[in-house]
Amino acid sequence: MFMNFRRIRKCQCIQLLTTGLVLCMVMVCWEDLDHHVVSHMRSYTYRYLVNSYDFLNSSFALSSKQHNRKDGYDVDVGLVSYPYLINHPGKCGGGSRDWKSRDDVLLLLFVKSSPENSERRQAIRDTWGNESFAWSELGASVRLVFALGVHPDVGRRSRVQSALLQEDKVYGDLIQQDFLDTFHNLTSKLILQFQWGHEYCRQARFLMSADDDIFVHMPNLVKYLQQLLSRQSEAKDLWVGHVHRGAPPVRRKASKYHVSYDLYPWSSYPDYTAGAGYVVSGDVAAKIYHATRLLNSSMYIDDVFMGICAKAMGVSPQEHVYFSGEGKTPYHPCIYNHMITSHGHASDVRSLWQEATDPTVYGNSRGIMSNMYCAAVRVALLCLPYYQNTYSCMAAFT
Ligand SMILES: *[C@@H]1O[C@H](CO)[C@@H](O)[C@H](O)[C@H]1NC(C)=O
Ligand SMILES: *[C@@H]1O[C@H](CO)[C@@H](O)[C@H](O)[C@H]1NC(C)=O
Ligand SMILES: *[C@@H]1O[C@H](CO)[C@@H](O)[C@H](O)[C@H]1NC(C)=O
Ligand SMILES: *[C@@H]1O[C@H](CO)[C@@H](O)[C@H](O)[C@H]1NC(C)=O
Repeated sequence: MFMNFRRIRKCQCIQLLTTGLVLCMVMVCWEDLDHHVVSHMRSYTYRYLVNSYDFLNSSFALSSKQHNRKDGYDVDVGLVSYPYLINHPGKCGGGSRDWKSRDDVLLLLFVKSSPENSERRQAIRDTWGNESFAWSELGASVRLVFALGVHPDVGRRSRVQSALLQEDKVYGDLIQQDFLDTFHNLTSKLILQFQWGHEYCRQARFLMSADDDIFVHMPNLVKYLQQLLSRQSEAKDLWVGHVHRGAPPVRRKASKYHVSYDLYPWSSYPDYTAGAGYVVSGDVAAKIYHATRLLNSSMYIDDVFMGICAKAMGVSPQEHVYFSGEGKTPYHPCIYNHMITSHGHASDVRSLWQEATDPTVYGNSRGIMSNMYCAAVRVALLCLPYYQNTYSCMAAFT
């Protein structure tokens, strides 16, 4: 009796101590936690209950006196248009090689790169961005170009620039405009992509924007796009990727993504896809281009600016479970036969390309037994907590 009582007391003591400890930790973290929780609650309420973001159009519209023409299109507002330093107007149309002269471009692949990232560009050309692979193995006409600004460091600029010109002489796939290539100029890079697409590659059925540290499973992507085309209706009005819904602006000054109340006073952003990699259909690309001419581009977070443009044009993003946001894919054949994009690859792009496009990957998913095996593996990889950052658990069941 007495022993039992003592044991209970001991348990309670431990419980009390733990509770105290947890409370202390909560107190220490409170300020962050509080801010985080509250801002998310507020942004979700905003997104799902209150607002249709009608205000965006008028608050981001450039005032009419900034346009030189009544129709609003084809006007240089100064803010949005930088001159080209390197350009390839013929990249999408005529060319010397036979298959390149074909007009029906399935996919214009725009990779956002920085002047000094030449190794990443080379890895992409050799793997998922290989145009001749897409043509000979997948029957798809893909055009790969890299979007660049100029090196922000004046001291290194001329050396980096001559290396770029050299690289471009060999590969002819760099598109560079005269703005500083910095994080806060990413929106200029977004505008470059849609402007170039509009000027030189209007016939492309789809446009993809991608970071230079992502991996794209080109065979799976091409298959997906061709399926969309075969069901005509869905090849229009498409904006697909990893969707952020009701995301709140970051107000912490120290954050890279900090946005001031002056720039964006509301509690949540319109829906947008993660900038790491998304695809739009040709008609949406044209609409976004027009929106970039009409709206104030001071919102420097490029994927949010894309959301604002899309909202103004009545386009909504669509979720695809195998487009990743921040996350890196689990390395496994049962993932490879579904994956479209994965984020955070630089050194392992070549090895991943080898593994993920190996013909045996598809062999693995044939037959009932191997299908069940793969489903189980996907649940283990995607639904358990340790791989939090990749595809959602839902992807395991598709
Ligand atoms: C690109 O793909 C073609 C066709 O599959 C292949 O012959 C070529 O070696 C590839 N290029 C590189 C750099 O791997
Ligand atoms: C963006 O590029 C322009 C043009 O080069 C430059 O004037 C501006 O300072 C850059 N902005 C940032 C935030 O780097
Ligand atoms: C765009 O918006 C910013 C911030 O709201 C403002 O300071 C700027 O004057 C605007 N630019 C134009 C051209 O309207
Ligand atoms: C927003 O502005 C664009 C261009 O001026 C217009 O076409 C569109 O209908 C507007 N959208 C809304 C919701 O007012």
